[in-house]
Amino acid sequence: MLYHKNKNIVFIGFMGVGKGTISRALIKKIKCFGLDTDDLIESMENRKIKAIFEEDGEAYFRKLERKTAKWLEKNVKNAVISTGGGFFKVENLDSIGTIVYLRSSFDGILRRLREHENADLKFAKRPLLSDEEKARTLFKERSPLYEAKADVIINVEEQNVEAIVKEIIAVLKLKKEKE
Ligand code: S3P
Repeated sequence: MLYHKNKNIVFIGFMGVGKGTISRALIKKIKCFGLDTDDLIESMENRKIKAIFEEDGEAYFRKLERKTAKWLEKNVKNAVISTGGGFFKVENLDSIGTIVYLRSSFDGILRRLREHENADLKFAKRPLLSDEEKARTLFKERSPLYEAKADVIINVEEQNVEAIVKEIIAVLKLKKEKE
């Protein structure tokens, strides 16, 4: 592996860019365990992200992200970690692992989500995607911030998952478990 910070790989990027899908595909190829920060938060709280936003608001959710980030830094090694789209703002992100930004245009992301067989669900579970124009503004605000945080940037638009995973393995010089 090229980068060693805690030996985790941390995917960051905008909602719907495919962080979860790409992590799961990568984990199948290398010797690593997989975790997702939204899943960790949902199990800790025993409720969905959408319910956390509705019942306690975004600020509370961000607090949970910071708690999760501290726990990951202390306790997790050798994992592929996919994160929620706003997780990159935690102050210790850099200490959790090698940060890989999955980059696509906003329209590319919308296209990807709309083509999905469960498209309605993909939108419904993401409170910050409910208003397209607001989401586009958020995307514009965040894009340079994602880039600034990244150790590695992977362009995912118009690329299939297999090709993306191959590129990540090559760029990070990861050891493949099996062909
Ligand atoms: C968020 C992204 C979501 C989830 C929450 C907030 C964001 O995760 O953490 O709805 O601020 O961008 P995904 O990136 O998996 O959609």
